[in-house]
Amino acid sequence: MLTRRGFSQAFGAVAIGAAAGGLGAALMPAGRAWSATQLPPRAVAGGGREVAVTLQAAPFRGTLPAFSGTAADLWSFDAAQPFPPVIRVRIGDTLAVTVRNRIPAGQEEMTVHWHGIRLPNDQDGVPYLTQAPIPPDGEGHYRFTPPDTGTYWFHTHCNTVESIGRGLIGILVVEGDETRPYDGDHVLALKDWRIGPDGFLPFMTDAGAARGGTFGTVRAVNGVTRPVIPVAAGGDVRLRLANVDATRVPDIGIVGAEAAIIAIDGAGIPPVPLTHWRMGPGMRLDLVVRAPKPGAQARLVDYFAPEPVELAVLAGHGEMLERGPFDPAPLTKPVIPEPDLAGAVFMPVAISATASGRAAAEIAGAAEAGGPVSPLCLSQRTFWAIDRQPWPNRGHQVLPPPLAQLDRGRTYLFELRNGTPHVHPMHIHGHTFRVVSSSTGAVLPHFADTVLVAPKERLQVAFVADNPGKWMFHCHIIEHQETGMMGYMTVA
Ligand code: C2O
Ligand code: CU
Repeated sequence: MLTRRGFSQAFGAVAIGAAAGGLGAALMPAGRAWSATQLPPRAVAGGGREVAVTLQAAPFRGTLPAFSGTAADLWSFDAAQPFPPVIRVRIGDTLAVTVRNRIPAGQEEMTVHWHGIRLPNDQDGVPYLTQAPIPPDGEGHYRFTPPDTGTYWFHTHCNTVESIGRGLIGILVVEGDETRPYDGDHVLALKDWRIGPDGFLPFMTDAGAARGGTFGTVRAVNGVTRPVIPVAAGGDVRLRLANVDATRVPDIGIVGAEAAIIAIDGAGIPPVPLTHWRMGPGMRLDLVVRAPKPGAQARLVDYFAPEPVELAVLAGHGEMLERGPFDPAPLTKPVIPEPDLAGAVFMPVAISATASGRAAAEIAGAAEAGGPVSPLCLSQRTFWAIDRQPWPNRGHQVLPPPLAQLDRGRTYLFELRNGTPHVHPMHIHGHTFRVVSSSTGAVLPHFADTVLVAPKERLQVAFVADNPGKWMFHCHIIEHQETGMMGYMTVA
């Protein structure tokens, strides 16, 4: 039986140096502790297969349970499992993907980006930066061997507000990180839908793009509002949460069951009790939950609302498994290179609004408050216009200058400084950050490819620039990304 002291030691084991600091008391309930304080190394890889997958990106008129009977013009990568398609491979496997672009209009520049995967640059799926787009009716190919286990996802990298809005995403699971089999493994794709009486509502609005984004009208998990998910009663079940929404930042909690965070953005951490965890668009969170007794229920909730919103119900199913006191099994240790903080190159990165963005936000605020609104500004469609401007875009354009030119092999310490009144999930391609410190207090030491930066926060993240190429760096609130909060870095 570990005491509170055991707990701090447990955290000490994963903290990196002094930079990580202590941890908030909220993360460490007294009197509870689990045995795993360090992660075992990954066992020798199985895998070695080639897994061939065809993704046929195509529209279909249909409905999802969350739409309550309304039909809408959905897009999907897979007619057989429209939302979400799930690809599962083992670590060591090579994924060979054929993408057929059967989207008739609006997605002429289709590419598929493998979010969070540290892959070779020419497989990263960014139009013009890393590949020529797949033309309508054309076919594209991706081939890579994921180096990391965990929960990932994929999406297009152009016209992404619309393509995510219509459901064109998929989940990629790389297996092989478990040290003990769990009693279930469930993918939960968190995405709301902008659905009105006649189908989808506009996916992007000036007011949304200039502020926190344009939110869905119905909340949903796997296309279902408040799904009831049967879980092995009494067992330790793994939930793979992926926030594939373009906008929403839920504050995830579990009510009615013990739960632990075991991985963030695919990368294992020693199990930490889940109190609540804010998940920006693009982020993933792997949990182990002690499933309720047969017939009993637990709830996945979003606390980021005056009244917690129930996202899903976990219903204990089958015969009661006897698993003893909750002591969640850890995953294996990530193989992501540890940044060399002592030798890091420090780079401040300002996250800010443009003058027109601030103006649009003010207009939206005035409209909401019933104040005077300038019709001229409202008619400008500032954000759509910007959407067409910045790179990547139509035609063969000249690249903007990179945000930074990084030396291959060096550690970089980015200080993300949020000068806006909104939270931004900042995402890097081809690399994974170590979250180092925050001006707002202690951080849970972990790796991530997408990090939330709160208003006024200065968040430090470090990574080894070990992957040569041109890599996007952008906000994953897609309306922000498509109205300018996007750039790229070179590693050479
Ligand atoms: Cu999901 Cu450029 O990212
Ligand atoms: Cu943003």
